[in-house]
Amino acid sequence: MMTSSYASSIKPADMSASAPLSIQGVSKIYHGKRDWFSRMTRKATLDYTALDDINLDIEANTFVSIIGPSGCGKSTLLNIMAGLSQPTTGTVLIDGVPITGPGPDRGVVFQNYALMPWMTVMDNIRFAIETVNPKLSATRQKAIAHDYIELVGLTGAEDRHPHELSGGMKQRVGIARALAIDPQILLMDEPFGALDALTRGFLQDEVERIWEQQRKTVILITHSIEEALLLSDKIVMMTRGPEAKIAKILDVPFPRPRHRELLDQQPAYHDIKAEMELHLSQETRAVEESRIRRRAIA
Ligand SMILES: Nc1ncnc2c1ncn2[C@@H]1O[C@H](COP(=O)(O)OP(=O)(O)OP(=O)(O)O)[C@@H](O)[C@H]1O
Ligand SMILES: [Mg+2]
Repeated sequence: MMTSSYASSIKPADMSASAPLSIQGVSKIYHGKRDWFSRMTRKATLDYTALDDINLDIEANTFVSIIGPSGCGKSTLLNIMAGLSQPTTGTVLIDGVPITGPGPDRGVVFQNYALMPWMTVMDNIRFAIETVNPKLSATRQKAIAHDYIELVGLTGAEDRHPHELSGGMKQRVGIARALAIDPQILLMDEPFGALDALTRGFLQDEVERIWEQQRKTVILITHSIEEALLLSDKIVMMTRGPEAKIAKILDVPFPRPRHRELLDQQPAYHDIKAEMELHLSQETRAVEESRIRRRAIA
């Protein structure tokens, strides 16, 4: 049974526990396969420039959504911010310091869950807490994990392994794991994508409330215009790839706390939504047209 009340480990606002993030001149080229074996087997591929000169300054305590057509490079950018992938050029600074790899200052919710298959739900979350806070007692680590398991509605599933969970449940473990380490920056890659509409709405509301309380710097990748409008201060719209860029950054001026039922009464709601719909449909249509052209040539 899900609960929306806050458990003891879920801390209220600590504005200092958030950090600004700056993406400076980030490009990413995925190098193609050109070794002799790939050429012999006709599996050689060309280089692919996914991101081209991305520049973005995100103030501390800001909730930013990134939206763009499928395959444009959103996960690539998030993985670079997480320190899991190196940019080909450019750098990412947190609080003015270039990142050199993953760190406890960033909690990541991965698009493909990335849970440890041999660990239970409890252990997946507890392990993350232990990694970041090795001095906490095992009892305390377990208590924190328990609170976040409750928050995401997984009470009763603590002892299950990932293969015993639905996609939505795995996604909730990923969200609990990222929140439980209490990071300065939360990076979320389509964290609600595999959830049914009700659970999705519930967890969106929870993330909104957690953000209200904790005001972390959050970067959320989403395909949902409504989700971006509900949660964000700013929405970064990306162009299609290759060489994806930032097309435009929209401000979302709606007061908080926000309520999904009342959001469309905000004067700017329909204009911002229409602008996002137009951008996404134009970019997605262009992707499909170029795919059709390529198929016709082949
Ligand atoms: N490891 C890799 N090697 C080669 N190409 C890659 C690799 N990872 C991603 N790409 C390519 O880079 C582009 C961007 O991929 P990415 O996963 O970042 O897109 P995305 O915007 O997150 O897509 P989606 O919305 O479908 O999740 C795609 O064309 C993808 O095929
Ligand atoms: Mg992705």
